[in-house]
Amino acid sequence: MITDATRARFDREVAKYPPEQAQSAVMACLSIVQQEQGFVSTDAEREIAEYLGMPAMAVHEVTTFYNMYNQRPVGKFKLNVCTNLPCQLRDGQKALHYLEGKLGVHMGETTADGLFTLQQSECLGACADAPVMLVNDRHMCSFMSNEKLDQLVAGLKASEGRA
Ligand code: FES
Repeated sequence: MITDATRARFDREVAKYPPEQAQSAVMACLSIVQQEQGFVSTDAEREIAEYLGMPAMAVHEVTTFYNMYNQRPVGKFKLNVCTNLPCQLRDGQKALHYLEGKLGVHMGETTADGLFTLQQSECLGACADAPVMLVNDRHMCSFMSNEKLDQLVAGLKASEGRA
């Protein structure tokens, strides 16, 4: 499952740490697998664990701790809406519900056309901008009113020629 080319990328990450601290490269290895396969399967976790000489459960703990690692295939656009308390107090949950209705999926699901996966997320460190969300683990969106959510979804659809 993990190819020689992938292993070579792992080697480059591990080389950044002292030999006895190879497992410090676990996040980098998980990111490489996700970049190449779209998600991190339990088989991939097991192979990474073997490669780094650490328990598979310890790798799984990292995968499950961070929102950015996908444990199953996701849509083209992963929408993570913050629902932690400060955002809850300022319509975070409302934004998530609005997107559920708009996209026709429940939290954690992917739309039938494979375009959107909707998830909740932990604090994104921008509580004053609530409701906030992250698109594909990279692009932070602030003050997401229903109107702005409409614009975001329309813009992402248009970028895929599905306006
Ligand atoms: S609680 Fe939502 S960004 Fe902090």
